[in-house]
Amino acid sequence: MQTSTRNDLLLNRSRAAVWHPCTQMKTHETLPLIPIARAKGCWLYDFDGNRYLDAISSWWVNLFGHGNPRINAALADQLDRLEHVILAGFTHEPVVALSERLSRLTGGSLGHCFYGSDGASAVEIALKMSFHYWRNSGHPDRTQFVSLTGGYHGETLGALSVTDVPLFKDTYAPLLRTSTQLPSPDWRRAEQGESAQDFAVRCADALEHYLREHHTDTAALIVEPLVQGATGMAMYDAEYLRRARAICDRYAVHLIADEIMTGFGRTGTLFAYEQAGIMPDFLCLSKGLTGGYLPLSVVLTTDKVYQAFYDDALTRGFLHSHSYTGNALACRAALATLDIFEQDRVIESNRLKAADISAGCRVLASHPRVENFRNTGMIWAFEIAGDDPDFPKTFWQRALARELLLRPIGNTVYFMPPYVVNPDEIDLLINRTLDVITQI
Ligand SMILES: Cc1ncc(COP(=O)(O)O)c(C=O)c1O
Repeated sequence: MQTSTRNDLLLNRSRAAVWHPCTQMKTHETLPLIPIARAKGCWLYDFDGNRYLDAISSWWVNLFGHGNPRINAALADQLDRLEHVILAGFTHEPVVALSERLSRLTGGSLGHCFYGSDGASAVEIALKMSFHYWRNSGHPDRTQFVSLTGGYHGETLGALSVTDVPLFKDTYAPLLRTSTQLPSPDWRRAEQGESAQDFAVRCADALEHYLREHHTDTAALIVEPLVQGATGMAMYDAEYLRRARAICDRYAVHLIADEIMTGFGRTGTLFAYEQAGIMPDFLCLSKGLTGGYLPLSVVLTTDKVYQAFYDDALTRGFLHSHSYTGNALACRAALATLDIFEQDRVIESNRLKAADISAGCRVLASHPRVENFRNTGMIWAFEIAGDDPDFPKTFWQRALARELLLRPIGNTVYFMPPYVVNPDEIDLLINRTLDVITQI
C-alpha cells in the first residue's frame, strides 16, 4: 500500500475545503493541486522535495522574489507598530508616505490616492469616480464606458462589464451593464504588411469615430496600457495611447489607465503610460504594488477630479469604502517595494536583464512551432501552433514535470518572472520550455 505524502494530505484537505479561483474544481480529480510548503526567491517548494520556478510571478504579483529579506524586515517592523486601523476618520504614517511617494512618481500630476484591496476593486473605484465626477460637474448623462476588445479589468460586476474575455464574461452577461468595446491595437490583428504603429493609428481612428458620435454620454475609456494581459499578452504600439489621450481630451472623456498588471516596471518603465509621454486621468495599481506580498490596490487621480468632490454636501463626496482600505501592513510592504526600486535602480538594471533574456529567447523565437514571439519589458510571449483544446492543461503539466510554473492562456505561453531571476534560472526556463514544446 502506498503511504500518503504530506503533499497528498494537504491537497485532499484543500479540495474538500477550499474553492479555488478560476477553476473547474472537478478537473482536480485528475489534475493534482500543488501544495506549497515554502518559497524563496524565484522558487516554490512543496512538502515532498519538489521545486517549481515561479515563471509567472504568482499571477503577476511578485517582483523581488518570495521571502524577500527587505520586505520581510519592513513588515516585521510594522507589525510591532500598527497592523491596521480604520481609514475613515483616521490616518497613519505608511498610508500617507505611500500616497506622497506614488504621487511623486507621477510627477505630482496624480496627487490623490484612493485605496482598495484587489485590482478589481481599484477598477470599480475608477469607474464610479469617473461617473460621479461628471455628475458633480453637471454632466449626469455621461454614464457609459468604453474599453478595448480583449481587455481584462477583473471579475467583479463593474470590472467584468468593461472586460472582453468571453470565457469569464458570457455566463454573467445578464448581470452586467452594457459597455462598448472598440478595436484593440494588438499588433497580431494588423493586416499583412501593416506596421504595429500604423495599426495603432487605425485603431485610434476607430476610437475617434466612436467618440465623435457618443462623447456626450461617455464617461471614460479604460485601457491596459501597452500589454493586454489576460487575453493572452497582446502587445501594442504606444502611438495608440498618445492618440487615445488626445482624442479623450478633444471630447472631454476620461482616460483610465488600468496598470494593475503593467505597473511597477513590467513593461520596461515604472508605468507603461510613460512610454507614450501621456498622463491618464485615473491610474489603477495593484499586484506588484506590494511586491506580491499583500492585497492592496490604489486609484490615483488629478486635483481637478478631487476638487469636483470637495464640497459641503455629503453626497457629492466619494462614499465608497472597503474595510481594509489603506491597510498599514500592505502600505509598508509597498513602501519597502518602492525602496528596492530606488536603491537598486531596478528600471535600469531590468533593461539589461531584459536584453539578455531576449537574446537567450532567440532559440525559442525561431522554433518552427512558435508564432508571434514578442516582448515588452519583462514580459515575453508567443503562441504554439496547433488547435488542441487541452493544450494549456497539457503544457502546464509537462512544464511542472520539468520544475516550471507556466500557465498558458489558450495557445499563448508567456514568461513573466520576478525581477530577481538570475541567468541560470533563465537558461533553465528557456531550455526546459523548449523541451516541453518539442515533446508536446
Ligand atoms: C489589467 C488587470 N486589471 C484588473 C485585474 C484584476 O485584479 P485582481 O485579480 O487583483 O482583482 C487584473 C488581474 O489580472 C488585470 O490584469
